[in-house]
Amino acid sequence: MKVLYVASEALPFAASGGLADVAGSLPQALRRRKVACRVVMPLYGTISEEMRSSMKFITNIMVPVSWRRQYCGIFEAKAGGVIYYLIDNEYYFKRNTLYGHYDDGERFAFFSRAVLEILPYIDFKPDIIHCNDWQSALVPVYYSTIYGYREGYTGIKTVFTIHNIQYQGKYGNEILGDVFGLGEETTSLLQFGDCLNLMKGGIECANKVTTVSNTYAGEILDPWFSHGLDPILKERSYKLSGILNGIDTINYDPEKDKDIFANYSAKEPEGKKANKAALQEMFNLPVREDVPLMGIVTRLVAHKGLDLIKRIMWDLLSSTDMQLVVLGSGDWEYEAFFKELAAAFPDKVGIRLGFVPDLARKIYAASDMFLMPSKSEPCGLSQMVALRYGSIPIVRETGGLKDTITDSGDGKGNGFTFKSYDAYDMLDAIRRALGAYYDKEYWQTLVVRALKCDNSWGKSAKEYIKLYEELI
Ligand code: GLC
Repeated sequence: MKVLYVASEALPFAASGGLADVAGSLPQALRRRKVACRVVMPLYGTISEEMRSSMKFITNIMVPVSWRRQYCGIFEAKAGGVIYYLIDNEYYFKRNTLYGHYDDGERFAFFSRAVLEILPYIDFKPDIIHCNDWQSALVPVYYSTIYGYREGYTGIKTVFTIHNIQYQGKYGNEILGDVFGLGEETTSLLQFGDCLNLMKGGIECANKVTTVSNTYAGEILDPWFSHGLDPILKERSYKLSGILNGIDTINYDPEKDKDIFANYSAKEPEGKKANKAALQEMFNLPVREDVPLMGIVTRLVAHKGLDLIKRIMWDLLSSTDMQLVVLGSGDWEYEAFFKELAAAFPDKVGIRLGFVPDLARKIYAASDMFLMPSKSEPCGLSQMVALRYGSIPIVRETGGLKDTITDSGDGKGNGFTFKSYDAYDMLDAIRRALGAYYDKEYWQTLVVRALKCDNSWGKSAKEYIKLYEELI
């Protein structure tokens, strides 16, 4: 079986969020299970010279963007044993950031069309094209309206995965023909409300639609979570399912990780202490083993539950012997809040604003508990990484958080959870975690249980293979 995995970002080449982790690890897991999986993504200007120098130029072609013909270079690279095709066009992709440009609709229409146009030029004829999020949602649309009938293209099946329904790719009706190059008869596939909605197009045209956890697959049928798309998904629920993401447990491994201060494992968890001490020192916090250290690593945006944190953290820190280390960047409102907090509690709070992967690992390794109270969370990877490093997650029961973390109140769970999106319910879960921390023996059992949790890709890769098999 041959799968072409299409993503607008993939590690190790370019990342802005969880999709890059998935696109950088699921294909490897599929390959280990004898599925020939290759990845296609844009060749962004942000990709380093060093990485570029290891790429092989295959050829260049012209790709239609409506009536225009645009240059498309095809490069090949290898990472983690997986072959990547990188689509080159400097006009579209040589920019400082991956997304957020006035012409994103055109950029990713070009990319989606290029994915189909390159097929005759690469030695890989896929059985399945697996697309992700709105940036590649036009691939199933182009396939079912244009390419599916062409010689050399027949019989391919398409899968579309929703990583976050909040970002749908909405554009004015007027660009259907002039940018997307589609005829008026396709309007009903893409139009939703008063504009074109690429995610809707992907849902309509793909043979299967998946999302990244079982709970989220149910949640997005509800207007509270669906950002408007619930009627479409309900209509298409026969082809919708949830498959939980895994994490790359080779890359995230406290026993071998070179970015953390000391290595450790479920068998020998002692090293975790050295990580805590070193991080406390790094953030100028009192070096104390007996104080609970809470970590937060996140984009600082409201749907990650930052408004709940903002509501109670000041009071909690005033009244509690604890430490908090925060890494993230995002909305000014939350950045300012954490800056104030650090200034007010210099002995308790350490912050770093930014996206610093190696520091994130140090925080996972050093912290005793990890706070992630998202309002919605399609899957969430951080809570699984936290478990992998023995930091006990405190999460809200939503999406993938619900599917990976269970409350330890029953003596079996791996974290602390709360249900309603309410600051005081969160506070209750935090207080239970802080209380449990002082029961040394209990806490140690919890840490070892967390370290033993298996969130590798094994099970989920098998589920994807089953889904692909059903299609072909
Ligand atoms: C998005 C979601 C996140 C998920 C990730 C990978 O970033 O917000 O919950 O883990 O995609 O699927």
